[in-house]
Amino acid sequence: MPGPPISDDAASPLRWVRACRRDALDPGAIHPLFMEGRHVILMWDADSVRAVERACPHEGADLAQGRCAAGKLFCPRHLAWFDLRSGAVSAGWAFRPLTIYPTRLVGGEIFVGFDPSSPDRAKDVDA
Ligand code: FES
Repeated sequence: MPGPPISDDAASPLRWVRACRRDALDPGAIHPLFMEGRHVILMWDADSVRAVERACPHEGADLAQGRCAAGKLFCPRHLAWFDLRSGAVSAGWAFRPLTIYPTRLVGGEIFVGFDPSSPDRAKDVDA
Protein backbone atom coordinates (compact mmCIF):
# COMPACT_ATOMS: atom_id res chain seq x y z
CA MET A 1 0.00 0.00 0.00
CA PRO A 2 1.57 3.29 -1.04
CA GLY A 3 2.28 5.65 1.80
CA PRO A 4 2.50 9.38 2.31
CA PRO A 5 5.08 11.42 0.42
CA ILE A 6 8.42 12.32 1.94
CA SER A 7 10.18 15.62 1.44
CA ASP A 8 13.79 15.03 2.49
CA ASP A 9 15.29 16.92 -0.44
CA ALA A 10 13.96 20.47 -0.72
CA ALA A 11 16.05 21.10 -3.86
CA SER A 12 14.46 18.25 -5.78
CA PRO A 13 11.38 19.00 -7.85
CA LEU A 14 10.28 15.40 -7.39
CA ARG A 15 7.66 14.26 -4.94
CA TRP A 16 8.96 11.04 -3.37
CA VAL A 17 6.23 8.61 -2.35
CA ARG A 18 6.72 5.39 -0.39
CA ALA A 19 5.65 2.36 -2.44
CA CYS A 20 6.38 -0.75 -0.36
CA ARG A 21 9.10 -2.65 1.46
CA ARG A 22 11.98 -3.98 -0.63
CA ASP A 23 11.40 -7.50 0.66
CA ALA A 24 7.87 -7.41 -0.79
CA LEU A 25 9.36 -7.56 -4.31
CA ASP A 26 10.39 -10.96 -5.63
CA PRO A 27 13.02 -10.96 -8.40
CA GLY A 28 11.31 -10.84 -11.79
CA ALA A 29 7.82 -10.41 -10.34
CA ILE A 30 5.72 -7.42 -11.42
CA HIS A 31 3.76 -5.52 -8.77
CA PRO A 32 1.00 -3.10 -9.82
CA LEU A 33 0.27 -0.06 -7.64
CA PHE A 34 -1.83 3.09 -7.93
CA MET A 35 0.27 6.05 -6.81
CA GLU A 36 -0.20 9.82 -7.17
CA GLY A 37 -3.09 9.25 -9.58
CA ARG A 38 -1.05 6.98 -11.81
CA HIS A 39 -1.08 3.25 -12.56
CA VAL A 40 2.50 2.12 -11.89
CA ILE A 41 4.28 -1.22 -11.83
CA LEU A 42 7.31 -2.06 -9.72
CA MET A 43 9.90 -4.73 -10.48
CA TRP A 44 13.15 -5.92 -8.95
CA ASP A 45 15.44 -6.67 -11.86
CA ALA A 46 19.22 -6.92 -12.18
CA ASP A 47 19.74 -5.82 -8.55
CA SER A 48 17.71 -2.65 -9.00
CA VAL A 49 14.13 -1.64 -8.41
CA ARG A 50 12.32 -0.24 -11.45
CA ALA A 51 9.10 1.76 -11.57
CA VAL A 52 7.29 2.38 -14.86
CA GLU A 53 3.85 3.23 -16.15
CA ARG A 54 1.47 0.26 -16.26
CA ALA A 55 -0.25 0.81 -19.64
CA CYS A 56 1.76 -0.05 -22.76
CA PRO A 57 2.34 3.10 -24.86
CA HIS A 58 1.32 1.16 -27.98
CA GLU A 59 -2.30 0.09 -27.36
CA GLY A 60 -2.60 0.25 -23.59
CA ALA A 61 -2.05 -3.42 -22.75
CA ASP A 62 -1.58 -4.18 -19.07
CA LEU A 63 2.18 -4.48 -18.59
CA ALA A 64 1.58 -6.04 -15.17
CA GLN A 65 0.64 -9.13 -17.20
CA GLY A 66 3.95 -9.01 -19.06
CA ARG A 67 7.33 -10.45 -18.22
CA CYS A 68 10.43 -8.84 -16.77
CA ALA A 69 13.91 -10.25 -17.36
CA ALA A 70 17.48 -9.01 -17.82
CA GLY A 71 16.60 -5.31 -17.80
CA LYS A 72 13.69 -5.70 -20.22
CA LEU A 73 9.92 -5.58 -19.82
CA PHE A 74 7.95 -7.56 -22.41
CA CYS A 75 4.43 -6.46 -23.36
CA PRO A 76 1.99 -9.39 -23.20
CA ARG A 77 -0.02 -8.30 -26.26
CA HIS A 78 2.40 -7.81 -29.15
CA LEU A 79 5.66 -8.81 -27.44
CA ALA A 80 7.47 -5.55 -27.98
CA TRP A 81 9.91 -5.01 -25.13
CA PHE A 82 11.13 -1.95 -23.27
CA ASP A 83 14.56 -1.15 -21.87
CA LEU A 84 13.97 -0.63 -18.14
CA ARG A 85 16.73 2.01 -17.89
CA SER A 86 15.72 4.26 -20.79
CA GLY A 87 12.15 3.20 -21.61
CA ALA A 88 13.16 2.71 -25.26
CA VAL A 89 11.06 0.26 -27.22
CA SER A 90 12.56 -2.67 -29.13
CA ALA A 91 13.50 -2.34 -32.79
CA GLY A 92 10.71 -2.32 -35.34
CA TRP A 93 8.22 -0.34 -33.28
CA ALA A 94 7.41 3.33 -33.71
CA PHE A 95 5.76 4.65 -30.59
CA ARG A 96 6.91 6.69 -27.64
CA PRO A 97 9.15 5.26 -24.92
CA LEU A 98 7.78 3.82 -21.72
CA THR A 99 7.62 6.33 -18.86
CA ILE A 100 10.24 5.48 -16.24
CA TYR A 101 9.92 6.83 -12.70
CA PRO A 102 13.03 7.30 -10.52
CA THR A 103 13.28 5.15 -7.41
CA ARG A 104 15.11 5.26 -4.10
CA LEU A 105 15.74 2.54 -1.56
CA VAL A 106 15.81 4.01 1.96
CA GLY A 107 16.00 1.77 5.02
CA GLY A 108 14.43 -1.17 3.22
CA GLU A 109 11.58 0.95 1.85
CA ILE A 110 11.12 1.76 -1.84
CA PHE A 111 10.20 5.30 -2.83
CA VAL A 112 9.09 6.44 -6.28
CA GLY A 113 9.68 10.00 -7.51
CA PHE A 114 6.96 11.89 -9.36
CA ASP A 115 7.34 15.25 -11.05
CA PRO A 116 4.20 17.20 -10.16
CA SER A 117 4.78 19.61 -13.05
CA SER A 118 4.95 16.99 -15.80
CA PRO A 119 1.84 16.00 -17.72
CA ASP A 120 0.40 12.70 -16.60
CA ARG A 121 0.90 10.39 -19.53
CA ALA A 122 -0.37 7.37 -17.64
CA LYS A 123 -3.69 6.12 -18.89
CA ASP A 124 -6.13 3.46 -17.86
CA VAL A 125 -4.98 -0.04 -18.51
CA ASP A 126 -6.68 -1.92 -21.32
CA ALA A 127 -6.97 -5.29 -19.59
S1 FES B 1 0.01 -3.18 -26.77
FE1 FES B 1 2.07 -3.39 -26.06
S2 FES B 1 3.23 -3.76 -27.86
FE2 FES B 1 1.17 -3.54 -28.57
